[in-house]
Amino acid sequence: MDLTIGPRLSPAGGIAITGIDLAQPLTIAARDRIGTALCDHHIVVFPGQALSREQQYAFTAQFGEVERHGGHRAESKRREIAHVTANLDADGHPTDRVAAGANYRWHTDKPYYPTPPLLTTLHAVELPPAGGDTEFANTVLAYDALPPETKRRIAGLRVVFQWEAGRRNAGYYAAALPPVDHPLVRTHPETGRKALYLGNHARHVFGLPEAEGAALLDELLRHATQPHFVYVHRWRVGDLVMWDNRCLLHRAVANYEMTRYRRIMHRNVVRGTVPV
Ligand code: OGA
Ligand code: MN
Repeated sequence: MDLTIGPRLSPAGGIAITGIDLAQPLTIAARDRIGTALCDHHIVVFPGQALSREQQYAFTAQFGEVERHGGHRAESKRREIAHVTANLDADGHPTDRVAAGANYRWHTDKPYYPTPPLLTTLHAVELPPAGGDTEFANTVLAYDALPPETKRRIAGLRVVFQWEAGRRNAGYYAAALPPVDHPLVRTHPETGRKALYLGNHARHVFGLPEAEGAALLDELLRHATQPHFVYVHRWRVGDLVMWDNRCLLHRAVANYEMTRYRRIMHRNVVRGTVPV
């Protein structure tokens, strides 16, 4: 079986890699080809992977330090292995309540950490018969398409991110983490490309009046998530999708019968570097 890299899946990004079993350790060559594909296409899809949580963790760990999940709140006992993203209530029944949650709003993973994640892996374990997509918006293309005067206006600005903000936007209370600030325009450490860094956990802009900063972030988010910057992933069970949090926003889409069908995904994130 030879690793095969398919055509780009959309103008906004995405590529599929087949002919590889992620349950086996990667060769150095395979690891490098996946890393290059991630830099070039931002979203890498590996269809048909049968992986335990431990195997997903081991695969992800070949790309860097896998973060413990949920240091800021109560989580499952297995949090060190993988986080479960699912539409289940406390009794394990499917619910649409999660549609109000942060995953269903445009975001990048954990930008409220001083050192936010480089990449996320998400493995589709159980899916509804239709829908339950994930959308990814390419914030490099979005930055490039900004008018020069907007690029000048936002150069050097810093965004204040806070975990609590995601929950408050989504309408429920949770204890806050201290806010952190990151550049609104960050430079990808591997490609050197500039990308917008914002999303659901972004509260306002450092040094601007709060309402003005929030309005600017809203305007940029609307710009960045236009359909031509977006790749829509339509899942099949066994897909493992790896994405680059440094140059994408993403969200789950509530386009399925949430109160009837379970949608269960396993997730790991790899720690990145301080955004510059
Ligand atoms: C995540 C996430 C989206 C989805 O796990 O970080 O945003 O479609 N998931 O489940
Ligand atoms: Mn996410």
